Amino acid sequence: MVVAAGSGVRLGAVRAGRPVPKALVEVDGRPMVTHAVEGLLAAGVDDVVVAVPREHREEFAALLPAGVTLVVGGDTRTASVRNALAQCADGDGPVLVHDAARPFTPPAVVHRVLAALAGGARAVVPVLPVVDTTVVVDDDGQVTGEVARAALRRVQTPQGFDRGTLLAAYARVTDGGPGFTDDASVVRAAGVPVHTVAGDELAAKITVPHDLQRVVRPAVQA
Ligand code: CTP
Ligand code: MG
Repeated sequence: MVVAAGSGVRLGAVRAGRPVPKALVEVDGRPMVTHAVEGLLAAGVDDVVVAVPREHREEFAALLPAGVTLVVGGDTRTASVRNALAQCADGDGPVLVHDAARPFTPPAVVHRVLAALAGGARAVVPVLPVVDTTVVVDDDGQVTGEVARAALRRVQTPQGFDRGTLLAAYARVTDGGPGFTDDASVVRAAGVPVHTVAGDELAAKITVPHDLQRVVRPAVQA
């Protein structure tokens, strides 16, 4: 599934004086959601469900490939995943959950996640190391401590799951709960071990306007 139902407040894109959802913002000439969905299909994913904002449903439907299923997303990412998951209950095989905001995720990342699932992992996330010195601050912004960087990882998508494991984990949590920011945290809250594979800087999330300049499709993708 691709979650594309966010509003993109931090990106702040506007069209004809009205806010545009982030997933519809064009990068390299096409909307982010198109890149994200086609990237999964090109990597060999069979069925794609996309969670979209209710008021832009028709626009998303017009630009996504035939065969892609659209569902209306929710107020939080967790709610959007839950709505898309309802379409996944009857299938078999693993489920990938991917952010539309990571339009240039290389197929190799998708393949590493799928390979780990095929190897028996029930939950898999692509990760990258933290390269900056990382500190803890208090309410005044004063540094109160350093964090041992070697054990830290930045978590990307697509995240992969055994289908029954993901469905069961989402059945345990409410959308208004502790504020999960990804799906592996939902699954880990259910006590399931989460395996990591190497992510890629090209899978970086587009969050703020600066990211639009930083994240460009490379001439040749691995
Ligand atoms: N998302 C979603 N439904 C929501 C919130 C987020 O499907 N209610 C999706 C976004 O469309 C995005 C992904 O989750 O592809 C990651 O979220 P984020 O980067 O936070 O995107 P937005 O929520 O759209 O951005 P912002 O938080 O700046 O408003
Ligand atoms: Mg958000």
